[in-house]
Amino acid sequence: MLLPEGVVIDGRTGSVTPSTDRYEKRLSDLRGFFRDDAALDRAIEAGGDPIAYEVFDFRHADSDLAFGTTIMMPGKVGVEFYLTRGHFHLRKECGEAYYTQSGEGLLLLESRAGETRTVEMKPGVCAFIPPDWGHRSINTGKDKLVFVWFCATDAGHDYGAIKDRGMRKLVVERDGKPALVDNPNFA
Ligand SMILES: [Fe+2]
Repeated sequence: MLLPEGVVIDGRTGSVTPSTDRYEKRLSDLRGFFRDDAALDRAIEAGGDPIAYEVFDFRHADSDLAFGTTIMMPGKVGVEFYLTRGHFHLRKECGEAYYTQSGEGLLLLESRAGETRTVEMKPGVCAFIPPDWGHRSINTGKDKLVFVWFCATDAGHDYGAIKDRGMRKLVVERDGKPALVDNPNFA
């Protein structure tokens, strides 16, 4: 039987204690997700294939609710800010919430019909992700971006759609600021 417990989340580092799982994605794991493959090769070479983001889970199969943190490093590949792969949920009725703890970024969302929306990610903002919207987070700041997510345990991840054709918009640095631009590689 699962018992109640208090899980300690550090909003600055993103650590989750206790956590049930953890994974990390390095730049080389994100090949195909950035616009500029040559810039990605250069960034991997220059940085020793740095970690782009880490995820900590608190997840039990016998509970319908899971939560955890995502910790995104600051950086760019060419002019494009570090991003997560982005996904739709396999269970289309499942939404999610992203509660930003520290740093600054942009949550990029795309509906099945192709509508793009963004939600600013900064401390105090809890982003509501409606069911069946694809979502990707982007660290547009100079520090780590840390957010807590809450989601159905069995929502599932469909990374393929976004990997195969990309998202319609990219977030790049332009004149020292983040800018949303059309993705020239969108299939
Ligand atoms: Fe999600």
